[in-house]
Amino acid sequence: MDWETLQAQCLQCRRCELARTRQNVVFGVGPRDAEILFVGEGPGQQEDIHGEPFVGPAGHFLDDMLSIIGLGRHNCYIGNIVKCRPPQNRDPLQTEQDACIPWLRIQTKLLQPKIIVCLGRIAAMKLIREDFKISREHGQWVEKGGIWFTALYHPSALLRDESKRPDTFRDLKKLQAKVREVCDHPERYTVE
Ligand code: URA
Repeated sequence: MDWETLQAQCLQCRRCELARTRQNVVFGVGPRDAEILFVGEGPGQQEDIHGEPFVGPAGHFLDDMLSIIGLGRHNCYIGNIVKCRPPQNRDPLQTEQDACIPWLRIQTKLLQPKIIVCLGRIAAMKLIREDFKISREHGQWVEKGGIWFTALYHPSALLRDESKRPDTFRDLKKLQAKVREVCDHPERYTVE
């Protein structure tokens, strides 16, 4: 399967009930040879309207965070566990996650990232470990199948709770060190 076929099929997806209320499928953005993949939980209102991940308030905060260490949409791929907006921004149901995850798995196979960064608890529980505890385990690293995984607090949580920001700053520094350690293209991640 190539990217174009995958995206065309994904945009037609009706595997779960979220298809009935969505405005747009939010497929993902970024270079298709990115070495770093960020995964959120699912689109919010702005993402549903624009068809792009992390373009609302949490997204602006994410852009600001990543720019500190030379990362952004120009050199990272950004996706979500579910590609359609859950009504009222509720957590995506397990059945919705299970219906949607094959799309992300194929994206990951095509991308072959060196690093996957889970944004928040939902993504970490799906991609790292079912009983992942974000408050205890954010910023820790685990290698699975040749890919390094970590989780950061979700940018929405950081907007709500400023006390979590110093921890995230430290986690970002660890992410920067991991990028330097395992990525093949350090020249992509220069800080302006
Ligand atoms: N929150 C997410 O988890 N993903 C988005 O795309 C936007 C907000």
